[in-house]
Amino acid sequence: MNALPAPPAARWLPPDTFAGQTALVTGGGTGLGLEISRGLAALGARVIVASRSAEHHAQLLAEAAERGWRVESRTLDVREAEAVEKLALELDEHGGIDILVNNAAGNFVCPAERLSARAWRSVLGIVLDGTFYCTRYFGRGMITRGRGQVLNIVATYAWTGMAGVVHSSSAKAGVLAMTRTLAVEWARHGIRLNAIAPGPFQSEGAANNLWPEADRKRRIEEQIPLGRFGSAEEMAAHALYLLSPSCAYVNGECLVVDGGLSLGRGMWDSGERRGGSTS
Ligand code: HXC
Ligand code: NAP
Repeated sequence: MNALPAPPAARWLPPDTFAGQTALVTGGGTGLGLEISRGLAALGARVIVASRSAEHHAQLLAEAAERGWRVESRTLDVREAEAVEKLALELDEHGGIDILVNNAAGNFVCPAERLSARAWRSVLGIVLDGTFYCTRYFGRGMITRGRGQVLNIVATYAWTGMAGVVHSSSAKAGVLAMTRTLAVEWARHGIRLNAIAPGPFQSEGAANNLWPEADRKRRIEEQIPLGRFGSAEEMAAHALYLLSPSCAYVNGECLVVDGGLSLGRGMWDSGERRGGSTS
């Protein structure tokens, strides 16, 4: 069982980094959430993955059984405040959670003038309301226990803006403001909040909704100074780092992991990128 190599995101930290801690990862069965969940479990945490579809948790549960990780699955729609509160109260009866990762999201490309009210609410509901409900209800238990951590997954368009995703950019901007606000408000309770802002990485949800055609993906890649998409594993490695004791004095920060995509292109032609990508 232990002969299996650690998942890539977990290779940079000591194997007992999260021993004795319980983490809840929303959307923790797919894409980035899956890699964060795998990393936390490999580094000793008990992990609860929560999202709408239990089918999305099957891969992680199977791997956990094989490796001896402690992973549990809960169906939850983060837009439903009462359901979030119910789960938080249930988990609080058994020690509660130490780490909350607000990773669940919904997104698609749609010009703002064509975006229906329901479509706007759907994305705002998942990203902004859902992050607040989870933070508020799981945060209450953390306040009672006097310790905890929240990691929010945002995107750089929270501050750069990006045409075509007004719902997601507005919601992520709200989540970033929430991160910084509560980093101050809850520090006295021993709770830290941070965020990471990944650049594009391949996940089924993002690929289906944002770059369904190979040509569109290639055009995005061409804009990235490092010349390639990131991977969910490397994004997760930064998530684990921010949650680890190395970052005990980091609070209210947003770590950008985007190969330089969100930086200015410059006004002068600085020449083509030479050499291979830095993987
Ligand atoms: C326009 C759309 C649409 C689209 C849905 N809607 N997709 N409008 N263009 N492509 C509209 C619907 O018509 C409906 O409005 C409303 O949105 C709600 O649709 P539902 O299908 O009922 O919503 P729901 O079942 O709640 O699903 C939520 C979802 C879906 C967001 C629409 O895509 C989802 O579940 N996504 C989860 C996975 C995901 O998106 N992952 C990507 C993460 S990447 P009407 O008015 O017709 O009733 C990311 C950052 C990437 O977040 C950053 C890259 C740099
Ligand atoms: P993903 O695999 O599609 O992940 C989205 C997850 O959210 C799914 O597991 C989904 O599970 C869950 N989810 C959606 N709606 C939910 C709801 N109402 N309640 C509970 N869970 C819900 O996408 P990803 O690319 O890994 O994205 C992960 C995070 O990274 C997101 O916050 C995203 O905004 C961010 N991000 C991604 C990129 C990228 O390029 N991929 C770039 C920047 C930021 P269910 O369907 O089972 O509910």
